[in-house]
Amino acid sequence: MKVVKTIAEMKAARRGLKGTVGFVPTMGYLHEGHLSLVRKSVEENDYTAVSIFVNPTQFGPGEDLEKYPHDLERDLDLLAPIKTDIVFVPTRDEIYPPGYMTWVTVEKLTDPLEGSRRPGHFRGVTTVVNKLFNIVEPTRSYFGQKDAQQALVLTKMALDLNMPLEVITLPTVREPDGLAMSSRNVYLSSEQRKQATAISRSLILARDMFDRGERNTAAIKGKMAELIEKEPLAKIDYISVAGAYDLGEQDIIKTPTLISMVVKFGKTRLLDNIILK
Ligand code: PAJ
Repeated sequence: MKVVKTIAEMKAARRGLKGTVGFVPTMGYLHEGHLSLVRKSVEENDYTAVSIFVNPTQFGPGEDLEKYPHDLERDLDLLAPIKTDIVFVPTRDEIYPPGYMTWVTVEKLTDPLEGSRRPGHFRGVTTVVNKLFNIVEPTRSYFGQKDAQQALVLTKMALDLNMPLEVITLPTVREPDGLAMSSRNVYLSSEQRKQATAISRSLILARDMFDRGERNTAAIKGKMAELIEKEPLAKIDYISVAGAYDLGEQDIIKTPTLISMVVKFGKTRLLDNIILK
């Protein structure tokens, strides 16, 4: 496993790879969710590259950029045994040198949900992923359904800009008690961590209601909110029931539908979703 820090080194390493290259962009502090993407890439490609870069331009003022968890040694120990070929760990200056001024924006799909709560977030994501694609030149790239809107936006970006690569979205990996894995789960106190299972429980409740024939989204959202509000430390940011491809809110479910939500525990925003087909 080769660890490279500069764009020049990454490009040189890339030139040595003859065959398909799978790519998994991450912000590090890796968990099974990330590793599931890496394993799939290893399975489907001749070579696999992973990037670890806490991208400052996708964090808003007052967000957790400076305290985002990191442990490079641990990340490398997790990646080596699953046959990662290249790990790209650039510095901020390498990606955004002084005078940097170019941005990639996907419109409309970035307006609702996370876009409305985190202005400029997706502009940062699409810009950095575009740059990483240009540097790594992957055949396929792998993203998690956990960040459903991000996966959709990046799929659209690749399509609209005729990028010569495939964007693949893989299922959310969960803790045994249902909590979606996230690098940010380490911010939770043990009491918050216990109450956080309400998020996946509310999504299961929504799916059960749908399976029993409920199509009225107000009824579903109401029951989900009731379940979450039983947890004293949980504060609902939003619950959305929207078209899975256009992210337009639905009053009556018309599948495929994305039920997505953010629940806050203190300052920690926990994001989760399911798709109804
Ligand atoms: P990060 O939060 O580190 O996530 C990297 C990738 O892992 C994303 O595609 C994310 O959706 C996926 N992922 C996270 N938790 C997951 C889980 N529980 N199950 C399955 N996949 C999961 O998302 C980012 O970084 C950044 O925005 C990035 C795309 C790297 C751009 O900076």
